[in-house]
Amino acid sequence: MSRPDPIWIDAEIASIRDLTPTIREFTITLGQFAAPPPGSHIKVRIGPNGLDDQRSYSVVDHDDSSLRIAVKRQPESRGGSAHMWSLQPGARLPVAHPECDFPLTYGTPHYLLIAAGVGITPILRMARELARTGASLKMLYAARNAQEFAYASELESLLGDRLILLDSSLGQTIAIEEEIALLPAGSEVYMCGPIGLMQSVSLAWEATGRSPAQLRFETFGSSGRFAASRFTVKIPRLSREIEVAENQTMLEALCSAGVDMISECRRGECGLCAIDILETDGEVDHRDVFFSAREHGANRKMCTCVSRISGGSVTVDPAWRGDQGFTPEPACTAS
Ligand code: FES
Repeated sequence: MSRPDPIWIDAEIASIRDLTPTIREFTITLGQFAAPPPGSHIKVRIGPNGLDDQRSYSVVDHDDSSLRIAVKRQPESRGGSAHMWSLQPGARLPVAHPECDFPLTYGTPHYLLIAAGVGITPILRMARELARTGASLKMLYAARNAQEFAYASELESLLGDRLILLDSSLGQTIAIEEEIALLPAGSEVYMCGPIGLMQSVSLAWEATGRSPAQLRFETFGSSGRFAASRFTVKIPRLSREIEVAENQTMLEALCSAGVDMISECRRGECGLCAIDILETDGEVDHRDVFFSAREHGANRKMCTCVSRISGGSVTVDPAWRGDQGFTPEPACTAS
């Protein structure tokens, strides 16, 4: 149920520019590749430890032989953004050809694009493409402050009054329910941003009874309700206790300890890495968009690639996957 390992290309960082104080754009030369549609991303290898050290970044622009990605410097980086921000022009970077897990559907009567923070990266090319094709659209773009709007001037000239910039430092927020209520029948929403925002949009969307297929999203699973902290995973079935460091995911810690796990997206979207919770003495910080709000509230399962425990430990049973309809593959099968 996982993708084959990508073929890694020895690419080169051609140039770098800072878009905001915390978002840096990289132009990467990698030779010939098929034109990536809006919503595409590339995987990059960020260290010497093989396939466990890879990150996905949206393609924000491309030509025939190079493409651009934009990377936010994360204070709690597990290594990805810190590594990317350490690179200089001329550096080599193993990169896989673009893939698209967040495709744009054409011919929809109206589109609402929602981006927050570095979530602008997959949404940017959708805005360009929809504007180019003359589609009916509105875009809501939220950032922490005025300096953190990447690509704002391009978007303003492209979309005019169809673009709404929301500056959180001024108390401006996305009026989720109102925006959804305004949408004509058949509209589609494409969004990317922090998990909390996407969970709120999903809840509001569900409440209106609109088709789940018309709400599309992509997440990088990097933000939660609590700051990442160290916690312990207890596995009675294996008589193991495994420590998860603050800069490590639970999936990485379990894999490193030799626990059989499977995974695919590593962004909290596919649910393949989910594990059963037997009990916890801390708060489960659900950072996925795979489970519903009701399932998060029940705290019976968690996506180990993104979700964490705050202030304690969790007891899990990795062998119980009977209701997920698949058989575990060998340790740490990943895309
Ligand atoms: S690997 Fe997809 S949700 Fe964790």
